[in-house]
Amino acid sequence: MATVIITPQNDGPYHITGDFQINTQGGQPIAAGKNEVWLCRCGQSSHKPLCDGSHKKVGFSSNLDEKP
Ligand code: FES
Repeated sequence: MATVIITPQNDGPYHITGDFQINTQGGQPIAAGKNEVWLCRCGQSSHKPLCDGSHKKVGFSSNLDEKP
């Protein structure tokens, strides 16, 4: 059984759930204590690596074949 689940959202971020840890390049924890985050993949978030909803403003298209 996976402890971390990564689910790409159609035209949006990666939804991460489970027992995970995300660090900055310098090793500082990001979103410590959380078991759910959304990671930006459109490149437009002002709060990277987390999604801030900017993907909607820029019309990001993920071109996923499968709709969630
Ligand atoms: S995916 Fe949401 S701001 Fe980039």
